[in-house]
Amino acid sequence: MCGIVGYVGQKTAKPYLLDGLKRLEYRGYDSAGLALFSEKDYVIKRNAGPVQGLADATLDSGQRETMGIAHTRWATHGAPNETNAHPHRAGDLVLVHNGIIENYSEIKDRLTKTGVRFSSQTDTEVFAQLIEFHRRKIQDQQPNLSAEDILISALETSMKEVDGHYAILLMARSVPGKIFGVQNGAPLVASPLKGGCLIASDIQAIIPYHNEVCFLPKGEILVAENGKFWTRAPGSSALHAPKLERMDWTADKVEKDGFDSFMLKEIFQQPLVVADTLSGRLPAKEHEPFIWDHQKAHEVLWKNVKKLYLIACGTSYHAALISKYFFEKWAKIDCEVDIASEFRYRSPVLAPGTVVGVISQSGETADTLAALRLANAAGASTFSICNVPSSTIARESGFQYPTKAGPEIGVASTKAFTAQLTVLCTLALDVGRLRGHLDLASFRALARLPHDLDRVLGQSETFIKIGEKLKDRRMVLFVGRGTMYPMALEGALKMKELTYLPSEGFAAGELKHGPIAYIDKDITVVTLAPKDDWYSKTLSNLEEIRARGGHIIAIGSETDEQIKRQCLSGGDEFIGLPESAWGTQPILSVVPLQLLAYGCAKALGRNIDKPRNLAKSVTVE
Ligand code: AGP
Repeated sequence: MCGIVGYVGQKTAKPYLLDGLKRLEYRGYDSAGLALFSEKDYVIKRNAGPVQGLADATLDSGQRETMGIAHTRWATHGAPNETNAHPHRAGDLVLVHNGIIENYSEIKDRLTKTGVRFSSQTDTEVFAQLIEFHRRKIQDQQPNLSAEDILISALETSMKEVDGHYAILLMARSVPGKIFGVQNGAPLVASPLKGGCLIASDIQAIIPYHNEVCFLPKGEILVAENGKFWTRAPGSSALHAPKLERMDWTADKVEKDGFDSFMLKEIFQQPLVVADTLSGRLPAKEHEPFIWDHQKAHEVLWKNVKKLYLIACGTSYHAALISKYFFEKWAKIDCEVDIASEFRYRSPVLAPGTVVGVISQSGETADTLAALRLANAAGASTFSICNVPSSTIARESGFQYPTKAGPEIGVASTKAFTAQLTVLCTLALDVGRLRGHLDLASFRALARLPHDLDRVLGQSETFIKIGEKLKDRRMVLFVGRGTMYPMALEGALKMKELTYLPSEGFAAGELKHGPIAYIDKDITVVTLAPKDDWYSKTLSNLEEIRARGGHIIAIGSETDEQIKRQCLSGGDEFIGLPESAWGTQPILSVVPLQLLAYGCAKALGRNIDKPRNLAKSVTVE
């Protein structure tokens, strides 16, 4: 969950490093640092706190160095302070790292016994000291080897000893002018700029400069020098020209376009994102096949499926939970949904005919990746719904049904969730069609979705104002039935991760089994109340809440005069949404939930794009 950046070329490295860190700050921002290499040695500057502090601290350095590595951190080992900030130095070398070294303490003990002294509590420093330990040993045993070969051999030896998934960049005094990199499960990308080479843990640091990138293959060593870079396969000294891929993301997509935060911009991008995610997928006529990149495989996969598992974390898990209702109702498939961090440690029965789908915006979430690997190893057919087609999860899944939300920078996921729901609704509809049942109402409503979302966003100021008034509430509860139950969970997650206020989501039917004890005049209950099969039960829930003095925000159909009248006459709030079909209703309902949380967080002065303690991609367990 950290960001790493490297630059080597003819230009001054520092501006590239600082700009890259700023673009990766959403991945982790409790400390930052950089190392610049002049002819003979490197200068390190580290700073607890956001990247801006580092930029200020290095303003007057006047360094003109043309090579450097940099890092922005989300602490996994050791407190977020300057001592634990990267880069970490170990004798001849300096290193930055994203990921986690599982067996670092055992290695640390072993190195300490040889006299190595550590200055931090991080696993990163252990990795750096291990490489330096082997470098010195190899140098003594094979002095005739070049400094570069000694360093690479030390790196390869160390990689065999460490467990974990990581990406690192390092520079060494003994090999001036070169940056080395390697990844073992965490992404590392490099791009050839004019007169330089930019390397990063995420393509968002590279997009403003170039849209051709090399995704460093796992285990291969990157060697970058003076604007060029090559890769070396493990154990081989041959240098290969990198395989470049063209990305269709452009710089303007990564800027804020005038919004006060990336998250607000991304909420307003949702109509376009749904249109992009749908485009080229919906058939021209009803009952015709939907269009997927792997049409044949799609049919084989779904015609014989006996059981479907959907696995994810956080918001992506909520999308999976909602789609369970679709797969059961439309495709009559036995569908089980689980949290990745639970699934991977259970002993799930993956019998023949099992399909496992994983959902992940980043495509790098460690628990979700581990669940996918468990399913692949068990021989299940797998697919992924990711927002980054080049991500590790996307590359390791059997099939991809990608979302097309573009870069999502705000840590709280919004447009990616809407895109996930769009893919899942479309997929479940098509699988239902394949198995003899097409829900025409939802099929027709899909095509209207971008327009309906635009209409909902037209009320954004109202939603934000209602959200602002929640800042003094003791707690905000969210309740819903059917597909609106996971939506209630999502509303609570948005509220808690953006405002830090206590918020919980429940199945509305569960209120009387305990949570109703929370309710009094200081509590707000956001009730998802569409005109669906459970409407009458939802009306009773509203009465139960009102009878105990709870404040209500009801989110229902714009034509629902009954609930609207009850709410407005009782001093409560009513949010009316366009009538939609059962399958598309959840996508419309999430927008007010996102904006309620946004309004409340703004009123509390929270950091909208980078909520405390969170990171965009949880690449550690
Ligand atoms: C959502 O707002 C959160 N940022 C978080 O729960 C997120 O959904 C979760 O970490 C999963 O991330 P992924 O979709 O990238 O796998």
